[in-house]
Amino acid sequence: MSSSVQSREAQAPTRSEEPRYDVELRNVSKRFSPTVLGLDGVSARFEAGKVTVLLGLSGSGKSTLLRQINGLQRPTEGQISVLGHRIENAGDTDLRKIRRHIGFIFQNFHLVGPMSVLENVCTGKLGTLRGPRLSLAMYPRSVRVEAMEQLERVGLADRAFQRADTLSGGQQQRVGIARALIQKPDVLLADEPVASLDPVSSAQVIDLIKRISREENLTVICSLHQVELALEFSDRILGLQAGRVVLDCASASIDQQEALQIYSKVATPSQGASMKSLAG
Ligand SMILES: Nc1ncnc2c1ncn2[C@@H]1O[C@H](COP(=O)(O)OP(=O)(O)O)[C@@H](O)[C@H]1O
Ligand SMILES: [Mg+2]
Repeated sequence: MSSSVQSREAQAPTRSEEPRYDVELRNVSKRFSPTVLGLDGVSARFEAGKVTVLLGLSGSGKSTLLRQINGLQRPTEGQISVLGHRIENAGDTDLRKIRRHIGFIFQNFHLVGPMSVLENVCTGKLGTLRGPRLSLAMYPRSVRVEAMEQLERVGLADRAFQRADTLSGGQQQRVGIARALIQKPDVLLADEPVASLDPVSSAQVIDLIKRISREENLTVICSLHQVELALEFSDRILGLQAGRVVLDCASASIDQQEALQIYSKVATPSQGASMKSLAG
């Protein structure tokens, strides 16, 4: 990959007290059609070891933003740096390399239902292994051991040999997290990771993501549509409305009164009916 396009932060020698920004977007727009603009001039950078929540109504551009960062979609305009590599024009080989450092957690878990929990976690290593793996036994022993360690970490070692689709939603999402972690990512993207979960499971999954981000000094970018959860969970909130950043603040700096105003900042008056769902 070209090193001449590294971000300034990535090039600079990092003193421990200086923040490191592993993900940076400059003026990124994504147009899907002449009338549909998914992102509209987004500039933001994301600090390592911090959890940023993307907050916004359905259709505000949260998933589109995450897809630009892992190169699943190309921006129409703008520049994106991830771990010092520019990705908006990167070729498939370079994208595959950079994606090894980016874990992704999906709303609907994306597990292979009939496969065991342990094998699902092992699939997180496929990006670095050559050739197909048609069963658990085809993974190197070291990968199976590592997968078991990650399952212990998310509290599911005792479920390793159970079919993934027999777990509860919250447990399946914890398997999804273990699968992302076995990659040893530097950046963790999560697209509405608790949208399909009950409040208790949501809190467990969110706590887990937060704990791991601290332990691994990960750059976490997580989309949510619940303001309360976002405030509790994140270091920083980036509010999106119709593809634009309308709010960017440290979560700790927001008091209760300001928290209420977040609703109106990320939702237009005409979307008033949807504000309730924004609150979860
Ligand atoms: N593949 C696509 N083709 C066309 N329009 C899309 C596509 N993906 C997203 N959009 C549009 O872009 C906007 C942002 O969508 P999205 O990023 O999915 O929002 P969110 O994740 O916040 O719900 C919406 O208007 C959506 O309809
Ligand atoms: Mg979405």
